[in-house]
Amino acid sequence: MNFKEEYQAAQALAEQELGGCFLAKGPHKELLDAMRYSLLAGGKRVRPVLALKFCEALCGDMEPALDYACGIEMLHTYSLIHDDLPCMDNDSLRRGKPTCHVKYGEWLALLAGDALQAAAFERLALSSRTSPKANAKACGILASAAGRHNMCAGQYLDIVEEGHTLDEERVTQIHLRKTSALLGAACLLGLTASPEEPFERQWTAALDYARELGLAFQIRDDMLDVESTAEELGKPIGSDANNGKTTFAALYGLDKCRELVAEHTRLAKQSAAGAFEHPEFLCALADSLAQRKS
Ligand code: IPE
Ligand code: IPE
Ligand code: MG
Ligand code: MG
Ligand code: MG
Repeated sequence: MNFKEEYQAAQALAEQELGGCFLAKGPHKELLDAMRYSLLAGGKRVRPVLALKFCEALCGDMEPALDYACGIEMLHTYSLIHDDLPCMDNDSLRRGKPTCHVKYGEWLALLAGDALQAAAFERLALSSRTSPKANAKACGILASAAGRHNMCAGQYLDIVEEGHTLDEERVTQIHLRKTSALLGAACLLGLTASPEEPFERQWTAALDYARELGLAFQIRDDMLDVESTAEELGKPIGSDANNGKTTFAALYGLDKCRELVAEHTRLAKQSAAGAFEHPEFLCALADSLAQRKS
């Protein structure tokens, strides 16, 4: 299989599993519908693919990480629903469709996000593909990446600094927290799901890979907010400028951003290549995300 086929195979595995979520009936069906609406709106599934492929890199099999892969996509989707709310980025298009609050109203979008977050931890805690010990560890990893010192802290800083001119160090700190942290959790969840224990250096390499991948990913995201179109991106363009955010694109312009994305991608690949016997997919993924158009 070439890179694209391999990506699609992992993506399809996650997609199929996610498609079976939240189908229960009951008086709260509309809440479940809102959760499914955002979860199944067609994201790239980068985080589940990372979880599956890091597991495979260690034990040769993706399947042990399938529940963790679903869980992290649920958590990511919650973060997007809340990120789009009027009190945050106030965006009305996501994954090519009206945002959850535009479709269902603000209070229901808030609850759909809350319930997706809870469902994420439930999925990790109860996985029968992995041991209770691994599941407890996985919950800790995700909680730490999503919580007060990482993703939520990044989102806090991102909003509280609106309208301020920030330096590179400050923007980097925001990107590491709001984006690299969750990508790092995806990689570590994959390693945790593997029945073969990772070496310490593989654990560290996964974190280094995600740190650099996340910086490249968020700089690319900030570039696309300037140079893409809503049709291609599936979300509005110009949102960062409208909200007065300091991004790398605002600090340095697009040409310099392209260089930075290339450099962070190089560092991500170096980390993966130094610690895994078969880093080919992880390296190709970094390259592909550096070029991404959506
Ligand atoms: C969007 O994440 C939020 C950022 C961290 C930039 P993705 O670009 O992975 O969004 P989806 O999941 O493909 O919609
Ligand atoms: C959002 O960053 C990151 C999280 C949701 C944690 P952005 O605000 O740049 O993401 P988009 O551009 O709306 O996808
Ligand atoms: Mg935001
Ligand atoms: Mg946003
Ligand atoms: Mg953005």
